[in-house]
Amino acid sequence: MPALPAPSRSKPEFSSGTGEGQALVIFVLGGPGSGKGTQCANLVRDYGFKHLSAGDLLREEQDRPGSEFGDMIKEYIKDGKIVPMEVTVQLLENAIKATIEEDKNRKFLIDGFPRKMDQALKFEEAVCPSVFTLFFDCPEEVMQERLLNRGKTSGRSDDNEESIKKRFKTFVETSMPVVEYFEKQGKVVRVKATASPEEVYKDVRKQFGEKGIEQIKK
Ligand code: ADP
Ligand code: C5P
Ligand code: MG
Repeated sequence: MPALPAPSRSKPEFSSGTGEGQALVIFVLGGPGSGKGTQCANLVRDYGFKHLSAGDLLREEQDRPGSEFGDMIKEYIKDGKIVPMEVTVQLLENAIKATIEEDKNRKFLIDGFPRKMDQALKFEEAVCPSVFTLFFDCPEEVMQERLLNRGKTSGRSDDNEESIKKRFKTFVETSMPVVEYFEKQGKVVRVKATASPEEVYKDVRKQFGEKGIEQIKK
């Protein structure tokens, strides 16, 4: 990983689109356990997106031998706090560049990001403006039940009652303002996330259609 902090730029590395010098970025937000990862898998299959989960990239960096950020990331994740944005923005930028180079794919679902206003501003200013944010709306009781269930097999240090409480607090106080920020720009696609995965995905597909995002398979 290149030296931090990420260089400041006068314009983003990519403009929005699928041509040369461009990337098509959709942010995917929602509380912990709202189903972001589950729905992203559907969208990868039917729309040909590359799925980049900020949480997965952070966990990978945490476990990378020799990472200078490993211990810090571990602590932040267990406490449900937002890792300093320089780290996450740099990991995402690296992954975007690698995907364009290796997979020749310029369509990205950026899952679990931006979770704090500084991440939103930095990413759109230095990396790429987003097309819109797909937001999964889900009550805490439902998310809590899903997370405790996921915790039986996920092996995640934060799928336990104590960490979940902290993650919900961070979500309400720090991440919801990001959704409101994009909402004011008319750039939020809101989906109710309480129904079955299949029902939720039907709504996602409908709204992607309305936004002119095309499937690769019918
Ligand atoms: P997130 O990425 O938003 O934290 P996940 O996609 O990992 O959420 O889903 C959290 C847990 O809930 C997983 O165990 C998943 O299988 C389950 N799940 C996802 N969507 C639904 C749904 N619509 N109904 C019931 N369970 C779901
Ligand atoms: O999205 P996921 O639930 O996998 O994220 C797990 C944790 O990773 C978050 O609770 C937070 O500590 C960290 N994270 C972050 N910034 C992001 C995404 C995740 O600090 N944009
Ligand atoms: Mg997830």
